[in-house]
Amino acid sequence: MLTLKKKTALLLEEAVKGAFGEGLLSADEIFEMLEYPPDRSMGDIALPCFRLSKSLRKAPPMIASALAESLSCEEFSEINAMGGYLNFRISPTAFASRVVSDIRAAGDKYGSPMCGEGKCVVLDYSSPNVAKPFHIGHLGTTVIGHSLKLLHEFAGYKCVGINYLGDWGTQFGKLIVAYKKWGDKATIEAGGVDELVKLYVKINNAIKAEEEESLQGIPEAERAGKAKSALADESRAEFRKLEDGDEENLALWRNFVSVSLEEYEKTYKLLGISFDSYLGESFYTDKMPAQVEKLRNMGLLEIDDGASIVNLDKWNMPVCLILKRDGTTLYPTRDIAAAVYRHGEYNFDKAIYVTSAAQSLHFAQWFKVVELMGYDWYDKLVHVPYGTVSINGAKLATRTGNVILLRDLFDEAIKRVYEITKEKHPDERECTEIAEKVGVGAVIFYYLSNNRIRDINFVMEEALSFDGNTGPYVQYTYARTCSILEKAGCEGEMTDAPLTEVEFELAKTLSVFPERIKSALADYEPSTVTRYILDLAAAFNRFYHDCKIAACEDEKLRSSRLALTAATRQVLKTALGLICLQTPEKI
Ligand code: ARG
Repeated sequence: MLTLKKKTALLLEEAVKGAFGEGLLSADEIFEMLEYPPDRSMGDIALPCFRLSKSLRKAPPMIASALAESLSCEEFSEINAMGGYLNFRISPTAFASRVVSDIRAAGDKYGSPMCGEGKCVVLDYSSPNVAKPFHIGHLGTTVIGHSLKLLHEFAGYKCVGINYLGDWGTQFGKLIVAYKKWGDKATIEAGGVDELVKLYVKINNAIKAEEEESLQGIPEAERAGKAKSALADESRAEFRKLEDGDEENLALWRNFVSVSLEEYEKTYKLLGISFDSYLGESFYTDKMPAQVEKLRNMGLLEIDDGASIVNLDKWNMPVCLILKRDGTTLYPTRDIAAAVYRHGEYNFDKAIYVTSAAQSLHFAQWFKVVELMGYDWYDKLVHVPYGTVSINGAKLATRTGNVILLRDLFDEAIKRVYEITKEKHPDERECTEIAEKVGVGAVIFYYLSNNRIRDINFVMEEALSFDGNTGPYVQYTYARTCSILEKAGCEGEMTDAPLTEVEFELAKTLSVFPERIKSALADYEPSTVTRYILDLAAAFNRFYHDCKIAACEDEKLRSSRLALTAATRQVLKTALGLICLQTPEKI
């Protein structure tokens, strides 16, 4: 469609020149004005001529009829003026032939805007905090981030996926205390990250209990800053030791990280995700002082109640904390050091950070600090936020236990799909394989169906439904295209057999794929792809229900229909791949 739209714009540029004179409107300007009318009775492409009336100094209906007279093109069966609109009606057979041949020629590159050649994008996503549960709240950063990576790769960018593990900070002091008190190697080895989480919860509860006890007898109003906990003090001391390079603590810490990573890897594997770098927060410990120094030398640091901050009043933001009173670094400090390092390492054209919208202020603040520090690449930093997830209407809360671990979520989805598929597939291995692809796909598809910024209420039954706009439904549609082509034994060729409205609609839907990809990239919005997949699946299924494909008696028509089916299979495969979904050929 994009090609035809461009062609139409060029055609119009000439027509405008012919009818009204040189240099009035460029093809690019006209391109921007072209629309797809919502109702096909008006045509397939339209030029609202009121947009031209200012440059051409003529009434829209006049412009439309003058242009209609001078235009003709084989790809349009009709070009006419209707009121202030110039409407183009596409000739279905010629159009579908061109779309299908474009898809065949480009293969799995069809739809790529090829705008990333020679450019590098760094994507920071997933990035869970070690020894804390990897839960449904991380689904967003993980699948949105990975899909953005795939989209950029598709566009030709060199991409670096970074899992910026939360592997440093005071929580490790707590964990070390808890481990020394209650833990042991064997239990952790056997129980993995779950045991670490247990220890972490236990020490937090114990600290809270100590603090509450220390506040007994002190009136409510005077309690601020008076809570005391020996365990909290001990934790701080252990973290200090860790920072100072204490061997015993370092060994424990390394073990905590690797045990956690092992667990995350299982989920990543299921999702088909791998990272190019796992450099977590700890890696930047020795890279922060130089940035703090630079801030200080530039006179950007202010001391506020003992802490070092950058004042962001002028930009209507709260201060950005760089050093705590005790001189220790903070989350923004590390992000600044990491960005500088990554720029040096990858010389990126864009650095994308995918996190929950709760962190939007954090990113706005440190992006501004990077700008103030004079780094001229500050405008290449992009924060991509997303909304919160609740489960069956209830908000996530680590403390009350209303968390769903990603691992459990996927296990459950796989189990349910297994139950459904096993009736059709007696072969257990095959059934397990399908259940994995469809179960995991269902969760991802459901998640990526909404605009990323919207809050999501996760309902498993909805995600797994085989009818409705779900992952299983589109994967099933894909499998249907495969089985039709397999049975037919060939992929057909477009012929001059006249096509009906449903076939034309399918071709049109296929033809807008490149445009959708462009807008998905421009908005950092994988859901644009998800929605496109639903449109394509709907167009294909309408075609499937209305038309005989392999069983069509007319040889030419059969061939065209098979070719349309093959083109649909190609585009569905590409599109599903871009949102991290697998494409089993049988379901
Ligand atoms: N570890 C953080 C969290 O779980 C997310 C890190 C996002 N990336 C970054 N560069 N700050 O909240």
